[in-house]
Amino acid sequence: MSNPADSTNLMEAIVSLAKRRGFIYPSSEIYGGLNGFFDYGPLGSELKKNIRDCWWNDMVRRRDDVVGLESSIIMHPKVWEASGHVAGFSDPLVDCKVSKNRYRADQLFFAPVVIDGKTVAYVSALESEKTTEELQAAAELYKRKKAIVGTLAPVQPKDFTEATETEIPLIPSPGTGEPGSLTAPRAFNMMFQTNVGAMSDASSVAYLRPETAQGMFVDFKNVIDTTRVKLPFGIAQIGKSFRNEITPRNFIFRSREFEQMEMEYFIHEDADWSKCHQEWIEWCRQWLLSIGLPEAKLSLYAHKKEKLAFYSKGTTDIMFEYPFGVQELWGIAARGSYDLTQHGIASGKPQEMFDETTKKKFVPHVIEPAVGVDRILLAVLCAAYAVEDVTDEKGNTEQRTVLRLSPRIAPVKVAVLPLIKNKELLVARAKDLYTKLKRKYAVQYDDGGAIGKRYRRQDEAGTPWCVTIDFDTIEKPGDTFTLRERDTMKQTRITEAELFKLLDEQVY
Ligand code: GAP
Repeated sequence: MSNPADSTNLMEAIVSLAKRRGFIYPSSEIYGGLNGFFDYGPLGSELKKNIRDCWWNDMVRRRDDVVGLESSIIMHPKVWEASGHVAGFSDPLVDCKVSKNRYRADQLFFAPVVIDGKTVAYVSALESEKTTEELQAAAELYKRKKAIVGTLAPVQPKDFTEATETEIPLIPSPGTGEPGSLTAPRAFNMMFQTNVGAMSDASSVAYLRPETAQGMFVDFKNVIDTTRVKLPFGIAQIGKSFRNEITPRNFIFRSREFEQMEMEYFIHEDADWSKCHQEWIEWCRQWLLSIGLPEAKLSLYAHKKEKLAFYSKGTTDIMFEYPFGVQELWGIAARGSYDLTQHGIASGKPQEMFDETTKKKFVPHVIEPAVGVDRILLAVLCAAYAVEDVTDEKGNTEQRTVLRLSPRIAPVKVAVLPLIKNKELLVARAKDLYTKLKRKYAVQYDDGGAIGKRYRRQDEAGTPWCVTIDFDTIEKPGDTFTLRERDTMKQTRITEAELFKLLDEQVY
């Protein structure tokens, strides 16, 4: 069995499959694309919608303590002043004055080249799985090229935010390979600006939201005044967010326009926030397993106390093992009462609740699970992708590409395949089944080419089941079809009622 899942080419294979099968295209491709923006094609938009729908159903509809919200993307600019985004939503930016390339300082690594205890030069490399190896190789190359005799110490990588004023001019730019052209890091605000109304001046400046979360804080009072929610309760939202990332990368992992699914869970100021935080971490982990992510690829990372924002009580990320490294998938933050307090002060309308027991007003605290739909979708594609050797009944071996997507999120749940397309009775039965199925499920009708080819086509699209309407269907009693299962490729016979039961159980 050969499987590029083991190779470093996995990302390339996934990007290529995503394009070829209509999952994901570069945005505005006919004009050369736009870095950090993507379009979801016919299969991709179904997959994305299914991820959103599963989350919404499990997070909002199936819980009694969470309600939904859809707030506007452009909000009053004061929202972003109060939340701290105008002043502080920035990444450290480094310019190369010669190549004109821009880097995120925390993704640009450097190390001194130390020979016999003396620093003789510096080397640099962009963040990757192999940063340390690349820096070591660059240091060895420098020593060889300059014919320096002595013992080279193992490199000690640091990121560019840690570079001292004396070190900055000595660190080579990845754009030129030469030192002297990198600037000191400066804060770059990642919010996209626009203007509201006909006048474009300072008074009309507004922002595309960089997160959906602030909608839930700003509508907090509206929700408690118009529903019967009682603490603890959550407000959830799915929607687009925009960040002018300095280095969008790794396909849809870090893009400039992406979609978030966030939930603000409000608790009493005296509640056991740590217990609640742990419960939400486990809920999120279980949810990821429920849409088919393998447990072995998930891990938890608790942020170090000293790196947290001053108001934060704790943040744990659920990490996923992407082909390009273990990276943040879902952040679960305990944010205290920071956001509601800030909006209370800035708007002059305290965002408080009344405690019937103590007869005192208080500002609720919040636990926030925040995840990107695109990041989940990429994790799902990476985990589902496989290329394997299969042997047919005649003993011939061929390769098949298969996406082992969970039936919960697969873009097409079942494909209806008439064995041949010129037998009237057979086609009529296939079309009848197709019409009935598509009232409830995303189904494809495919009568093009040999049956084996059609199975392969569905394997690549991640369709969990194919049903073939064959001669036994129309000639033998029982009105059964061949059910072909994607992962095992096993074929069994099934009736229409059994097929609906199977789908009902597996697609929820
Ligand atoms: N309200 C909190 C918040 O937005 P965040 O960690 O900045 O927190 C939450 O973002 C999640 O949104 C991340 O864990 C990630 O899944 C997703 N996300 C953030 N920036 C992204 C980007 N540039 N591209 C794709 N997804 C992103």
